[in-house]
Amino acid sequence: MNIKELLRSAEDILTQHDIECARLETELLLAHILKVGRLYLYINPEQALSQEQIDNYNMLIERRANHEPTAYILGHREFMDLDLIVNEDVLIPRPETEVLVETVIDNLNDSTSILKIADIGTGSGAIAISLAKSLPSASVEAVDISEKALTVARLNTGRYNLLGRITFNLGDLFKPLYGKKYNAIVSNPPYIPSKVIDTLQAEVRDYEPSTALDGGADGLEFYRRLIEESPKLLADGGFLAVEIGFDQAEAVRHLAKKYFKDIEVVKDLSHNDRVIVAKI
Ligand SMILES: C[S@@+](CC[C@H](N)C(=O)[O-])C[C@H]1O[C@@H](n2cnc3c(N)ncnc32)[C@H](O)[C@@H]1O
Repeated sequence: MNIKELLRSAEDILTQHDIECARLETELLLAHILKVGRLYLYINPEQALSQEQIDNYNMLIERRANHEPTAYILGHREFMDLDLIVNEDVLIPRPETEVLVETVIDNLNDSTSILKIADIGTGSGAIAISLAKSLPSASVEAVDISEKALTVARLNTGRYNLLGRITFNLGDLFKPLYGKKYNAIVSNPPYIPSKVIDTLQAEVRDYEPSTALDGGADGLEFYRRLIEESPKLLADGGFLAVEIGFDQAEAVRHLAKKYFKDIEVVKDLSHNDRVIVAKI
């Protein structure tokens, strides 16, 4: 069997299992097996494959047909200009979260002083690493309640030689940071209402960690705590920046009004409300 034929049969299988963008996924997985870029598949469609390559590929296609996310199968995912290791212990970083990172950078960029940033619920370390890489004068303290997530975050941080500027803390939200002050507190917390989780696509519901998704009965549990507790940890002129679900801006703004004077909502590329920045 050659590359073209194998891709065609895999595309049929994924389409039958309602996998969106089946063609792209088949190519990503075959490029992974052959250790080549996707372009190679277009240049060499007639290349014959060994039985071992075909068997290994078919195993990956079976996993994908069972709705395992491609990022977990490949073991990595791009985020901003990073290539991050991911596994089932961490949320797969989403493009929407890049808006949170960019918003924080925009708000801190003019500062010439040494910056202290807290990343609450760091997961793969996507936010902490992007911020440390873009802001050379920043040090980041990252917190997660999952030891396994912190292991992944440390691995990713090591890959970018940032272990000297990002420290990791196991614990519940701000508990490991009490008594410290930050110029920015950043978080992409779990924000899906508990009841909605069962209705999510299988890729998310069955594979991503529920501790990364479940935002309590109304999805706002973590915002209540972040908003109430963060003022004590903010330095003068500091701010809280959180990612929100597309329909949560009004509820989160309402919660923040009690503790913060200046509240801004930032939209993502699909024009959905995505980030709230709150300043005292
Ligand atoms: C939505 S994920 C975000 C991961 C990563 N920051 C990102 O944007 O891709 C939320 C993260 O918060 C962590 N988390 C959940 N409850 C927590 C708590 N009480 N304290 C600290 N972290 C928590 C989860 O383990 C998960 O890694």
